[in-house]
Amino acid sequence: MRRGPFRPGDRVQLTDPKGRLHTITLEPGKTFHTHRGHVRHDDLIGAPDGTVVEHTAGTDYLALRPLLSDFVLSMPRGAQVVYPKDAGQIVTYADIFPGATVVEAGVGSGALSLSLLRAVGDTGRLLSFERREDFAEIARANARTFFGREHPAWSVTVGDLVEALPRAVGPGTVDRVVLDMLAPWDCLDVVGEALVPGGVLICYVATTTQLSRVAETARRAGGWTEPVAWESLVRGWHLEGLAVRPEHRMHGHTGFLLTLRRLAPGVEEHRRTKRPAPGAYGEDYTPVVEEEWSAEDLGERTRTEKRLRRTVRDARAAAEARDAIPENDPRREGVSGA
Ligand SMILES: C[S@@+](CC[C@H](N)C(=O)[O-])C[C@H]1O[C@@H](n2cnc3c(N)ncnc32)[C@H](O)[C@@H]1O
Repeated sequence: MRRGPFRPGDRVQLTDPKGRLHTITLEPGKTFHTHRGHVRHDDLIGAPDGTVVEHTAGTDYLALRPLLSDFVLSMPRGAQVVYPKDAGQIVTYADIFPGATVVEAGVGSGALSLSLLRAVGDTGRLLSFERREDFAEIARANARTFFGREHPAWSVTVGDLVEALPRAVGPGTVDRVVLDMLAPWDCLDVVGEALVPGGVLICYVATTTQLSRVAETARRAGGWTEPVAWESLVRGWHLEGLAVRPEHRMHGHTGFLLTLRRLAPGVEEHRRTKRPAPGAYGEDYTPVVEEEWSAEDLGERTRTEKRLRRTVRDARAAAEARDAIPENDPRREGVSGA
């Protein structure tokens, strides 16, 4: 369904000459309006991907099927999404492979779930956990819109990972765990129990205080390798004749990534030969172990209930437009090409 000429029900990204993007879902007889005129959907249906269509005001629009990275940035969102640059790092450094059993929490808007589903493929399993029903619904609708049907490898459980994970999986049966949540340190025990020896845990956190707390909690608990942490900065480049230079604007900060690997049962730690830097755990170091942190404590903006209800409606409507493709249409088959 991501190949061939445009068909009714396809999402198409239109780019105007100023680089502004609009995403539409093709329906016979419909028109896409701007303040100066319109583009007919019928001019796109049957045309190849990468077509240029003319707007009634004489402007040309480039029409392309959105890539996963485009879709994630334009889909309805309940919670902040993992950006494509970080999703790419997560898939690679958590070593998500076709056929793997992967646990993910929370699901949020489902952006990262889409990359994980692509990486595990139809033969893998992605068990995602989200404690908010409304976010889970947005994520499910976004995945249905993107893949065109329910992905066979995916299950979404509404509940807190700490309670829900031990009920969902047996000890030592999960290959990889991905945590994108406020307090990943609260989940280390259940995740450690679920992971196979050598399994990978990757945490995505927004602040250095979270990064430190998850690393120190894992060290104290034992049973994990030494944490490895990093961030990635991606700077776009402007390319025009001799004017070849970095873009003036960039996303300065998205989040930090941290990986740990599960040690075999009974192995508590692998002693480091290097001593901690002098003062690292000196008198100024105060471990934050018991305090509860809220999203606001970490500077996160929360959405109003009204805005969230609108997002749920938008996500559901987009999925329903996709569902409107007839049952026996070949585009409903085979998510593997998605
Ligand atoms: C930043 S969002 C995740 C975004 C998601 N990775 C994406 O790319 O769209 C964090 C989510 O974790 C959920 N969450 C936090 N703690 C959780 C827990 N212990 N169990 C399940 N979900 C949790 C929150 O409700 C929130 O939706």
